[in-house]
Amino acid sequence: MKILGIETSCDETAAAIVENGNQILSNVVVSQIDIFAEYGGVIPEVAARSHLETILPVIHKSLRDAKLDFEDIDAIAVTHTPGLTGSLLIGTLTARTLAILKRKPLYAVHHLKSHIYANWLSADNPPHFPLLALVVSGGHTQIIYMREHNHFEIIGTTRDDAVGECFDKVAKILGLPYPGGPAIDQTAQNGNPKRYPLPHPKVSNLDFSFSGLKTAVLRTIQAELGLSIKTPSFELKNHLSTQQIADFAASFQNTACDILLEKLSLALQSHPNIQSIVLAGGVSANQTLRTKTQSIFSKQYQIYFPEPRFSGDNGAMVAAAAYFESLTHTPPTNPYTLSIAPRTPIH
Ligand SMILES: Nc1ncnc2c1ncn2[C@@H]1O[C@H](COP(=O)(O)OP(=O)(O)OP(=O)(O)O)[C@@H](O)[C@H]1O
Ligand SMILES: [Mg+2]
Repeated sequence: MKILGIETSCDETAAAIVENGNQILSNVVVSQIDIFAEYGGVIPEVAARSHLETILPVIHKSLRDAKLDFEDIDAIAVTHTPGLTGSLLIGTLTARTLAILKRKPLYAVHHLKSHIYANWLSADNPPHFPLLALVVSGGHTQIIYMREHNHFEIIGTTRDDAVGECFDKVAKILGLPYPGGPAIDQTAQNGNPKRYPLPHPKVSNLDFSFSGLKTAVLRTIQAELGLSIKTPSFELKNHLSTQQIADFAASFQNTACDILLEKLSLALQSHPNIQSIVLAGGVSANQTLRTKTQSIFSKQYQIYFPEPRFSGDNGAMVAAAAYFESLTHTPPTNPYTLSIAPRTPIH
């Protein structure tokens, strides 16, 4: 079954064709990073306008790269929640129109399901159930229990900021370029992760909190520089040496990863039959997170990370998620009535 997957939930315009949820026939991603680097963050109206200009060329390229016509496609899949309203509208309106005109079944896919199913792409030995997915992205930080395909249960979630958002905000304080996650990952390679001890939040159960960690970095930088806590965060980077920036990046990254993996350990204790651990979302590209997860859990569990090109937003993961949804006999969506939702929990 060949599915065209369309993704426009944030600032990537993406389309891909995937066969049977696994075999990638094409994968086209046009990122708006260059537009938003100047502003240090996404401007929703600009993102939507950019999707509008790019979506049709991206879909056509995905067909050309796969050497296929629309007649060869069995279904269309599109992200309909969660995400930026304008961005979701462009993707879903395009997908709905194509589904009607080309008479194809349409699957509406939850963005976090797609991030999880990125782990099935090109996998010779796909994850085994039951599994725990640690979803770490720009907008979400969750531990999700999957008993089987298309069964999702949130067992832990962030009470405030997402971990990716925290990487981006700390990077901004340190004067690193947008997007902050990859910049911290790279800069931290020259830093000492033990130089600046940072606190772990005291949150009960399996929930997370990352807003305190961001403030702790801010206060530690101010103290290190002997500056008042009233010093604005945007001034601090001018006073930091290259080594201090690297040490702060490494100390922050190390603490953020430890916080994530401590909760994952707790979740594994309360779910004794878990076979696989699956990391998903943009932050799953982080080298330290990958290394630590392997070293702590690989003796007992199968560990999965998406290929780095599939850890951020892309259309291939949307197609994979739709394929596995179709296997559970979930009927396709009505293209005339499909609506978008900026926020819906995975279920
Ligand atoms: N190597 C890395 N280390 C840490 N963070 C990273 C790395 N690469 C990307 N990120 C972070 O991943 C996030 C983007 O991930 P993703 O595209 O999954 O998020 P999103 O789609 O904006 O949000 P969501 O998926 O929650 O709707 C950004 O916060 C980015 O800084
Ligand atoms: Mg995403």
